[in-house]
Amino acid sequence: MKKLLFVLFSLFAISLQAQDISIIPQPAEMVVADGRFVLEGKVVVCYPVVKDKKVDAVIDRFVKEMKAATDVKLAKDRLKKTEMAGFDVKKSVKKGDAHIVFIVDEKMGEEAYKLDVKPGRVDVTAAAPAGFFYALQTFKQLLPRNVMAGVPDESVEEWSVPCVTIKDEPRFGWRGFMLDEGRHFYGKEEVKKIIDVMAAYKMNRFHWHLTEDQGWRIEIKKYPKLTEVGAWRDSKVIGWGDVKPDGIRYGGFYTRKDIKEVVEYAKERFVEIIPEVDIPGHSQAAVASYPEFLACDPENPHEVWLWQGVSGDVINVANPKAVQFAKDIIDELTELFPFGYIHLGGDECPTHKWEKNSECQALLKEIGSTNYRDLQIHFYKQLMEHVAQKPVEKQRKLVFWNEVLHGNTAPLGSDITIMAWIGADGAALDAAKRGMTTILSPQIPYYINRKQSKLSTEPVSQGHGDETVERVYSYKPMNNVPAELQQQYLGVQANFWTEWVVEPSVVQYLMLPRLAAVAEAGWTPDVKRDYNDFLKRLQGEAGLWKACVW
Ligand code: ACM
Repeated sequence: MKKLLFVLFSLFAISLQAQDISIIPQPAEMVVADGRFVLEGKVVVCYPVVKDKKVDAVIDRFVKEMKAATDVKLAKDRLKKTEMAGFDVKKSVKKGDAHIVFIVDEKMGEEAYKLDVKPGRVDVTAAAPAGFFYALQTFKQLLPRNVMAGVPDESVEEWSVPCVTIKDEPRFGWRGFMLDEGRHFYGKEEVKKIIDVMAAYKMNRFHWHLTEDQGWRIEIKKYPKLTEVGAWRDSKVIGWGDVKPDGIRYGGFYTRKDIKEVVEYAKERFVEIIPEVDIPGHSQAAVASYPEFLACDPENPHEVWLWQGVSGDVINVANPKAVQFAKDIIDELTELFPFGYIHLGGDECPTHKWEKNSECQALLKEIGSTNYRDLQIHFYKQLMEHVAQKPVEKQRKLVFWNEVLHGNTAPLGSDITIMAWIGADGAALDAAKRGMTTILSPQIPYYINRKQSKLSTEPVSQGHGDETVERVYSYKPMNNVPAELQQQYLGVQANFWTEWVVEPSVVQYLMLPRLAAVAEAGWTPDVKRDYNDFLKRLQGEAGLWKACVW
């Protein structure tokens, strides 16, 4: 009986301590013990020589960040591989020195890690750079939040970490966030901050929505007018109802150099970037730049759109020069974005301009259809063939919004990825059944630009305040999906549309804390997710967002 009481008491004590530990996303397995690892005196980082130089880079950055935030100088001790294999703790750990030891376990998954914190020694085990990176992100979350931000905090008296054993790996490989900069342009420094927050919560895919009716945001060498003309409009606000265009010249775009810089920045934080060029709909800014071959009615004036909604001014998919344009864009995106995916949009593409255009009418006849939606699919098929002809290292998987599944009579084949937003659960299941891979980004509740409360202080945006933190947290990805289809679900993604969001401070306000809720859905096993516990863990995060990130 005494023994049982002792066990119960110990469990209670452990769970209390576990609550004190505030890691987001919640690790898959965690056991808390007594004691702390104190960062004082000489702290030695021991790590083996590994083939992948990125491990060195991860450790170097960690050492620099720790110095900047805590003023603790970690001493690096790069061991020979053979020494590592026979690493003897007792012999290697010099009296009085604390050690952080990196251990390679090739059997683990690429993003998995183990973190074992004891007084005087921390073991960090992983197979690959991403695993080591995530272990260190967790380690930083065991310290005050200024450490994650890499800024000093003079008020902290002791830098120490609770003793804990964590065995962790993500539920999904795709933990994404999409930012629409077509409507409003924020610039690379804002994007880098977003990438920092994503990385803090172990998110790994930044989907960059770079083109819209209201703006084209990426330099394309072959088509300079896309940014000379398409990146600028005559209104800062985007008109809707009583909100009229204000006549203010507004815009901006990323040069190729900017793009490379952001891609590199993201890579260092294990975030891969998926560019989206939304064609042939949502393309009025492109049409305004090259109406002579992109417009269905080049004889009429075309301008970068000043209004919200879905523009009917879509690309003339029957013009061979428009098809070549799209291929050239894909080629330049391939050069700039090394990750294996390119998003071509595909949502909300009205067909009425095609219906009135003689070239489109003729093409429809030629492909043996009477359904104008098939022209969109025919356009994409040519782009898919173009990509398939490239050398393997230049091939990219094409991603589309889920509208491409419907309304057409000529399916695109299974070698695509469907980003499911409208009727997301059903669309994703449909895609998976057709053999496609899919990503869950349900409009409700994962469009985290929508108002997150009914408070009168909520900034103007879409929705009625129903997409609260709790609602976002409570969405269950891949619910009731048959086991044999689950491997086709790559993961989850939050999306941020910016029709109403002019200022980056409003992006930040609306994005947080809901981004953290999506991050946890992407990482933590469903059985370990608990909203009340998440709320408690969120309390400390404001420190990161306020003082350190923005
Ligand atoms: C979308 O929300 N139109 C993808």
